[in-house]
Amino acid sequence: MKSPGERIPPKLQPSAEPASAAELLQLGRTHERAGAMSEAVQRYAAAIEAAERTGERGVLAEALRRLGVVHHHRNEAEMARSLCQKSYETGLAMGDSVLAAEALNALAGFDFEAGAIEQAREKFYRALELGGASAELRGRTEQNLGILANIQGALAEALAHYQRSLGAFESIADDRGCAIAYHNLGMVSADRELWDDADRYFRRSLDMAKSIGDVHLQGLGLLNHAEVYLARQHYEQARQNAEAALGIFDQVGSRLDKADAYKLIGRVYRETGRHALAESRLRSAVDLAVSTGSILSEAEASRELALLYQSMGRNQEALKLLNAAHRLFGRLDARVDLVDVSTKVLKLEETYFAVVREWGQSIESSDSYTFGHCERVADYALGVARELGLDEQQQTTIRIGAYLHDLGKVRVPHEILNKPGSLTPEEFRVIQMHPVWGLELLATVEFPWDIKPIIRWHHEKYDGTGYPDRLKGDEIPVNAQIICIVDVFDALTTSRSYRGALTVADAIGRMQECRTWWRPDIFEAFLRSIGRMSAAA
Ligand SMILES: [Fe+2]
Ligand SMILES: [Fe+2]
Repeated sequence: MKSPGERIPPKLQPSAEPASAAELLQLGRTHERAGAMSEAVQRYAAAIEAAERTGERGVLAEALRRLGVVHHHRNEAEMARSLCQKSYETGLAMGDSVLAAEALNALAGFDFEAGAIEQAREKFYRALELGGASAELRGRTEQNLGILANIQGALAEALAHYQRSLGAFESIADDRGCAIAYHNLGMVSADRELWDDADRYFRRSLDMAKSIGDVHLQGLGLLNHAEVYLARQHYEQARQNAEAALGIFDQVGSRLDKADAYKLIGRVYRETGRHALAESRLRSAVDLAVSTGSILSEAEASRELALLYQSMGRNQEALKLLNAAHRLFGRLDARVDLVDVSTKVLKLEETYFAVVREWGQSIESSDSYTFGHCERVADYALGVARELGLDEQQQTTIRIGAYLHDLGKVRVPHEILNKPGSLTPEEFRVIQMHPVWGLELLATVEFPWDIKPIIRWHHEKYDGTGYPDRLKGDEIPVNAQIICIVDVFDALTTSRSYRGALTVADAIGRMQECRTWWRPDIFEAFLRSIGRMSAAA
């Protein structure tokens, strides 16, 4: 059976094979570079056979390694490993430590792609020790160690590796190696927000990429340099760089890089308040990312578009995009995407909290008596959740639910919300609609956390006297009961149009009188949590 990419040998191929092992190895390389993998495999295998016969161990070690790497690309992991292991042993036996180190480097690469990061790191280090005499090998190995450190979030370590990689490439005047090293140094410096360093490295990388005629690297340099300009609020320079990069990516047909260029241009427009242009560029970025299948690119472009919608007050759309991005980040693979996934997820969740918090606060601003209500409810509720031993996931659910629990109040007329004195039964019926209206506002938003029960049922009571559905007992989810109890506590301890704020002791006294509203263990956890907070204050 033929695998994709396999080719029928050209008819005009000379039938007589060159006899020497070294020539067979060269032929194998030529075929491999041309993408003719079947032919490459045949020649490498023939080279191995010939070298074993003639005892040319240097050729043998290299042919074994190259054949191993081809098998690796064909997903034949065991074969790949055993060939490279043999290559390593051959290199060692003949005392050629550079050849042995090359084999180790290949084996480390297999470990890395299989997710065995620690094994990969250990082998890269052994390769450095063995083959450090070869500057070229040192440059590549240090670069790999830098990438490893980078995806684990060890930025200072990554920086040191890239610097050593640069030193190695400089010592042999390998301009391409240097250009890549400068580029990586720029990226890590930007991640560490060392903007001066990043600026300097990107300039060097760009100059070298130009002088060696590497157009793609020039595009990447321009785009990443634009990131530095954007961070320094040099918007016009950032946009010009990104547009130039876009032109290059268009020319070389790299759609994924184009998505990143559109994303940056969109961010510039967003930061400078040109919303329509920002939306169109960020949409292009999302669409292109989707069409290339890059999860990372799609997730990041979605997050940027969400921030735009938030700044335009289009909160539902912002949350929809953030939820989608959250799902995508969950599928990220550090090895494929070469990124530190946990830092990315953390950053997304921060954005998420910021969006829901601000949305919650925007509702408070229409009700002069509840300023800061959501934030306090979130704090108190997390205290109770911890007392009950709820896990991180549930705590996140409760926090987001707390920010959004009164969302439906946007539909309650201002006069009712701010009415001094008591409400008429009709007005009270309107207020009681807010949990239902909250859910209606979020009907089309799918959350990664189960927050809708909190919004709908945070006024239900354990004894069945609550609203809107008059649920009773454990029909009410624990998360909703927690928000309910701290919501009442916050209402009592802040001043209202019809009375002043109660002291904590008085508020708890009132709540003791109606403790049938809450499940006993939740009431107890609430008391403990408030006790702890008052003691700490
Ligand atoms: Fe409420
Ligand atoms: Fe509330």
